[in-house]
Amino acid sequence: MILERQNFMNINQISAELEKEFTNKSIEQEDIEKLQALARLYQLYQAGANEIGTKLENLDAEFQVNYDHNPIHHMEERMKSVQSLLNKLVKKGYALSVENVRAHIFDIAGIRVVTNYIDDVYLIEKMLLNQSDVTLMQRKDYIAQPKTSGYRSLHIVVSVPVFQSTGSKPVNVEIQIRTVGMDMWASLEHKLRYKTDIEAELVDHYGADLHDYATELSGIEIKMQALYQKLNQYKN
Ligand code: GTP
Ligand code: MG
Repeated sequence: MILERQNFMNINQISAELEKEFTNKSIEQEDIEKLQALARLYQLYQAGANEIGTKLENLDAEFQVNYDHNPIHHMEERMKSVQSLLNKLVKKGYALSVENVRAHIFDIAGIRVVTNYIDDVYLIEKMLLNQSDVTLMQRKDYIAQPKTSGYRSLHIVVSVPVFQSTGSKPVNVEIQIRTVGMDMWASLEHKLRYKTDIEAELVDHYGADLHDYATELSGIEIKMQALYQKLNQYKN
C-alpha cells in the first residue's frame, strides 16, 4: 500500500487563476510560463514516482505468491515542496530553471520503502535494479556505513522512463529503503532535530542516547533476521 497521494492542477487552470488574480497587476507572461513549466515538471516526476511505486507493489505481491513472504512493510511517497525545491537550487548555487532542476535535484519525487527485515532492503534494491528500464544513478549505503548521528538507510536514485504524449522522458526518483526499526529510529531522531525549544546540551545528550539505541536496534534486527531464517527451515 502506498500512502499519500496528491492531485495535480491543470496548467490551463493555473493560467486562468493567475490571470484572474493579477488583472491590472504586474504578472508577466514570462512568470506564467515558468509556473506552467513547474506544473509540467511536477506532473512528470509524480508519474515517475507512480512507475516506481507500481513496480515495488508488484514485486511485493509476487513475493507473497511465490515465497509466502512480504518484503515490504509499507511505503510512503512524497513530492518535494516547491519552496524546498527552490531553496535547494539556490543553496547549490544554480539559477532557477527547469533544466537545472532536472539536472541537479534528485529528490523531487521520493519513495520510502519500509521493509520487515534487513535482508529485504537489499532484496528490494536488487529486484528493482534488475528491471531493464530502471537505471541506478546514485547509491549511498548508510546501513553499511551509518551516519555519525547513527542514521541507517539505503538511499538510491534511479532513473525510469515516463511515457508522455510527446514521447518518453527519463525521470529520477529517490528511494530510501530501511527496516521498520530504522524507520522508527529516524522518525524519533528527526523529531529531536526539529525541536527548537530544547537546550543545545539536552539535544546532544538525547542525540548520544539515540546513537546508542541505533546500535542496539541494529543488533536486535540482525538477531531477529537470523531467527526468522531458522524458523523458515521448518515446514509448518
Ligand atoms: P540532501 O539531499 O540535500 O538532504 O543531502 P544529501 O543528498 O547528502 O542527503 P542524504 O542522502 O544523506 O539524506 C537525505 C535524506 O535522508 C534526508 O532528507 C532525511 O530524510 C534522511 N536523513 C539523512 N540523514 C539523516 C539523519 O541523521 N537523521 C534522520 N532522521 N534522517 C536523515
Ligand atoms: Mg539527497
